Amino acid sequence: MTQIDDRCAAPAAPSAPPGEGVGEAFDARRFRESAGAVAARLAGPLTDLSVRGLALTDPAELTAAARALMTAERDRIAPHDPARLDAIMDLYVRTGIPVHSPGAMGRQFSGVVPLAGVMDFAGAMVSQPASFYEAGQLPSVAERIMGEELGRLIGWDPAAAAMVTTSGGSLANLTALLAARARAFPALWTRGGTDGVRPAVAVGADAHYSVTRAAGVMGIGETQIVRLPLDAARRIDVRRAGPALAAARRRGLSVFCLVASAGTTSVGAFDPLDELAGLCREHGLWLHVDGAHGASLLVSGELRGRLRGVEHADSLTWDAHKLMFVPAPCTMLFYRDGARSLGAFRQRASYVFDEEPDEYAALDSGGRNFECTKRPMIMPLWTLWAMHGPALFAQKIEHVCRLARDAHGLLLAEPDFEAVHAPQANILCFRHRPRGLAAPDVHRFQNAVRNRVRGGGSFFISKVDIDGTAALRAVLMSHHTTLDHVRMLLAEIRDAGRALLAEGADR
Ligand SMILES: Cc1ncc(COP(=O)(O)O)c(C=O)c1O
Repeated sequence: MTQIDDRCAAPAAPSAPPGEGVGEAFDARRFRESAGAVAARLAGPLTDLSVRGLALTDPAELTAAARALMTAERDRIAPHDPARLDAIMDLYVRTGIPVHSPGAMGRQFSGVVPLAGVMDFAGAMVSQPASFYEAGQLPSVAERIMGEELGRLIGWDPAAAAMVTTSGGSLANLTALLAARARAFPALWTRGGTDGVRPAVAVGADAHYSVTRAAGVMGIGETQIVRLPLDAARRIDVRRAGPALAAARRRGLSVFCLVASAGTTSVGAFDPLDELAGLCREHGLWLHVDGAHGASLLVSGELRGRLRGVEHADSLTWDAHKLMFVPAPCTMLFYRDGARSLGAFRQRASYVFDEEPDEYAALDSGGRNFECTKRPMIMPLWTLWAMHGPALFAQKIEHVCRLARDAHGLLLAEPDFEAVHAPQANILCFRHRPRGLAAPDVHRFQNAVRNRVRGGGSFFISKVDIDGTAALRAVLMSHHTTLDHVRMLLAEIRDAGRALLAEGADR
């Protein structure tokens, strides 16, 4: 362990100006040159449509490469070195998922619309953090505008509804659960404890882990999570959900919120929101819809029907950094009754919250979102909406969803592939079951195929367990991907499977 030496270095003359290097780091010409060089680097992947997957680098090698790029200077400010910046950018780009490539199908990440990336960069430079109007004026207004624009697509009255941005879908789900709990147990924030009542939440069996994590953070134990059974399409089975809620009540649980999914992470399934809203009314529950993945389908006239009934929800999580192709995080949390958004956090802090809010403070979101300093994450989305309108999003979303549907059709005609669901969004899960593969080996085989395909470097796909058996998972995010690329992927999977069977690696 090294000791911190508490003897100070001899002080510089009082109020001595900083060294020249500080001024140079802020130099406008230097900024323009660096920004130009970085932009030139980033333009490359936009035009490189080669079919590429993920190239995983050995972490030790990458650490060494990163260390080699660091200046050894400690006492002086090292001068700007364009070659070093170029090498850093090169490493940054090379180790990223090639999100613009038709081969990148592994996760819900997409290549962002370049203008949205530019605005994210602008956000870093302008520095308008967004929780308080006085610090982030345009982001606060843009947040309100987007709340109204997208709130209308949900079917809500803009005068009553509210939206706050928050750093990711996981945090939005936690925030919504807090607001739901505040409605059911208004004294809890102040007094703590629930006087023997056991607050509980009901979730679909395929709910994203962030939902049950949020419950855990709130002190809602595993045994207070009521997992609702799914139907054959992996949607909450409404007929069995009612009895499950009744059984929870008999166990002494006070369910206050039902979390439905609009686009599950595993297969992109949409829960029947209309029927679930009826069930929630009957049981006096808050209906929260986790639409982190699928809420964006509301932008498309062709696809918005997937969220039928969302207008009856109390709250909705919507990640724009998934299917609206803007930099992460950009999450919006919507409330049908805007006043409920004040329930999640109830605090006083004289340095930020005004006792008598004026017309400026009325636009503050700090009382309603977890963050104090919050990225102006709405700006890239609002800018795209302002510049191009909703059709930009609708057309891209429709392309990737149609592609998933057509790829499913392709699979149905292939005897050595098993389609495990009919895609409702842009996620397609399936299994490869070549002749000669024994039934007990199917699970391990999918994992082995996935790893081999990933190692091959042409396609990046993921995997997910469905009813205890692994399936391959393709998330179609790029508008460059076509059915021919899906055919190439299937050929690659077949090659991987053949090699594994030949090696006996399936057992
Ligand atoms: C359905 C769903 N909910 C929540 C999340 C979490 O969102 P985030 O990654 O923005 O925290 C995800 C992420 O994949 C998701 O698919």
